[in-house]
Amino acid sequence: MQSLNVYANKIAELKKELGSKLVIMGHHYQHDDVVAHVDMAGDSLQLAQMIDGIEAEHIVFCGVHFMAESARLLAKPNQKVYLPDHGASCLMAEMVPATLLDTVITKILAHGKKIVPLAYVNTSLAVKAIVGKHGGAVCTSSNAKKMLEWAYSQGDCVLFLPDRNLGNNVGNMLNVPQDKRYTLDVENLDFTAIDNASLLLWPGCCPIHEYFTLDHIAKMREAYPNAKIYVHPECPQEIVAKSDGAGSTSFLINVAEKAEAGSTIIIGTEVNLVQRLAKQHKDRGVTVIPLFNAQCPDMAKITEALLCKTLEDIIANKAIPVTIDNTMIEDGKKSLTRMLEHCAKK
Ligand code: 13P
Ligand code: SF4
Repeated sequence: MQSLNVYANKIAELKKELGSKLVIMGHHYQHDDVVAHVDMAGDSLQLAQMIDGIEAEHIVFCGVHFMAESARLLAKPNQKVYLPDHGASCLMAEMVPATLLDTVITKILAHGKKIVPLAYVNTSLAVKAIVGKHGGAVCTSSNAKKMLEWAYSQGDCVLFLPDRNLGNNVGNMLNVPQDKRYTLDVENLDFTAIDNASLLLWPGCCPIHEYFTLDHIAKMREAYPNAKIYVHPECPQEIVAKSDGAGSTSFLINVAEKAEAGSTIIIGTEVNLVQRLAKQHKDRGVTVIPLFNAQCPDMAKITEALLCKTLEDIIANKAIPVTIDNTMIEDGKKSLTRMLEHCAKK
């Protein structure tokens, strides 16, 4: 335990030394030890929206690679964005290789079917650039419904990627008929099914949110009959259907904040966030229980020790910033700014 305090004290000193030149951002799935040092915390949308207002030269991003990459894309040219572990990826983002997406879109367009690509923010810059080039946009779990509506204002058929679960869940919100949805077999495109569909889904998912099963829900309902169950929309649609509500990490935080003293809520999302909510609301008499202990191994790669090392390296001028391919900036920005501009509208 003592070593953790050593890191905490050292990070506090280094933050003081860097002063206004430094901002530490962090996603809600980060461990408490890391969250304790974060200046700005948020869900994926909030974190992307915050970048514009940051003047600090050094932005340390405690999260996964696609988030730091989006921050780099949206930051000013003189700013540097650092990810304490460059290997902190996102298993879902890896399920859509850019070259495969390009091939699939090109084949569907060549077949004569117009599609509007809508990419979940959990994708690489290369994927966002392809989406931007084809007139599409990005969305996050907080604005997926609004962005799917936007996509349908651009064309009759939307290709939602890479999360088929989030795609199905927002499809349900807009009442897209089940028989108008088709999960692509990306290696072997079925054009009859594609022609019939108005919502094409990429066959990706978040393995962490796929852990949740109907059995987990049934057991919790039995053990806590008066409790409400809330889940993240990356969970499969049958889990969302059996829950009392679904939404982004900030939605889940809100639910816990609004829960009345004496109540119990069960939350189905990454366990770091659920355990933090349990601690934060215990004294108010609110019991928060994880639907299941699902941990994101990539979010967990960012540790207090690595954050400390990153700050030391920034001061020593040897920290390696996140870089992006210049040829992707224009199209990548198009897809992100379409979302930020559309969502800024009331
Ligand atoms: P949020 O946008 O809800 O914060 O989710 C990000 C994420 O990676 C969930 O798995
Ligand atoms: Fe990616 Fe899932 Fe981890 Fe979120 S929880 S970063 S979607 S692997």
